[in-house]
Amino acid sequence: MLVLGIESSCDETAAAVYDGTRLLSSVIASQRDHIDFGGIVPELASRAHERVISKTVSQAISQAGIGKKDIHVIAVTEGPGLMGSLLVGLCFAKGLAIQLDRPVIGVNHIDAHIYATFIDEKPQLPFVSLVVSGGHTQIFHVIRPLQHTLMGQTRDDAAGEAFDKIGKLLGMAYPAGPEIDRLARTGNPSFYNFPRAMMQKGLDFSFSGLKTSVLYYLQDIPEPEREHFIEEHRSDLCASISAAITDVLIHKLRQAVRKAPVKSVIIAGGVSANTMLRHKAQELADELGVSLHIPHPRYCTDNAAMIAVTGWFKANEGLYDDLHLKPYARFHWEKMQG
Ligand code: KG4
Ligand code: ZN
Repeated sequence: MLVLGIESSCDETAAAVYDGTRLLSSVIASQRDHIDFGGIVPELASRAHERVISKTVSQAISQAGIGKKDIHVIAVTEGPGLMGSLLVGLCFAKGLAIQLDRPVIGVNHIDAHIYATFIDEKPQLPFVSLVVSGGHTQIFHVIRPLQHTLMGQTRDDAAGEAFDKIGKLLGMAYPAGPEIDRLARTGNPSFYNFPRAMMQKGLDFSFSGLKTSVLYYLQDIPEPEREHFIEEHRSDLCASISAAITDVLIHKLRQAVRKAPVKSVIIAGGVSANTMLRHKAQELADELGVSLHIPHPRYCTDNAAMIAVTGWFKANEGLYDDLHLKPYARFHWEKMQG
């Protein structure tokens, strides 16, 4: 069964083909239009998807070495995400479904981040999964594919959002996560002890206080020296900020595994590409005696391979949708497969 996956929830237009055992192609067109604005501009994102979606899907089909008519199912991100951006992907998917007379399957973007791990590996179920992206920070107990319970989530900013907003305070371009990661590798994580929020409060997270604390920390440095200070200590600041964020993520993950004993742990979503997080996660896995699975960095950030794989799981369970499929902007627990 050949599944075409289409992703357009945020600022990446992507398409991929998966056959149940192998990924045949994965194409990602990243948008550069937002860099000057310090964040994603929804209207610009929708227009950029519109410009490249047809070409991106065609490339994925030709790179897979197949023709359009060989596709059996079209899986598409239905939410959460930016409404206008989601609509571009959904409308395209529905048009193609009508043209080819094939079924569509709506895929939840968070489900897809979790199942991205299955592109290259077969993690042992049940497992605990930490999803850390620009829009979400959640921990799930996954009993079997498409069946999971939510154990905890952020009450305000997502971990990736914290990286991006703090990076902005340090004068970095959006998204700042990868650049903070790069600089942190040569910095001192103990340079400054930024707060670790909600360590004793269950499995929920809060990252907005960290952003405020970095803001106050920088504001305390008198104006004429501030820029020079940031320049001089950029790597140390990045390492200290990364340490604060990753310490909380690892602490909550440890608690989650204690609560729901499992043999495997999965970390997914854009922030799972982070070097310090990957390193600490491996230490945690060794400590707990569980196997750790993190998708290849190219499948950590938004991509359509994860949509195609999740679509394949859903098709296998007969979970098809029809052309009434509608996008949704926000995370709704009932929209996941749990
Ligand atoms: O999953 P993703 O591509 O999009 C969403 O669904 O949000 O995640 C993007 C987020 C951004 O906030 C970006 O800064 C962050 O992931 N990110 C990283 C790294 N690579 C991407 N954060 C820290 N370290 C990285 N290496
Ligand atoms: Zn994502």
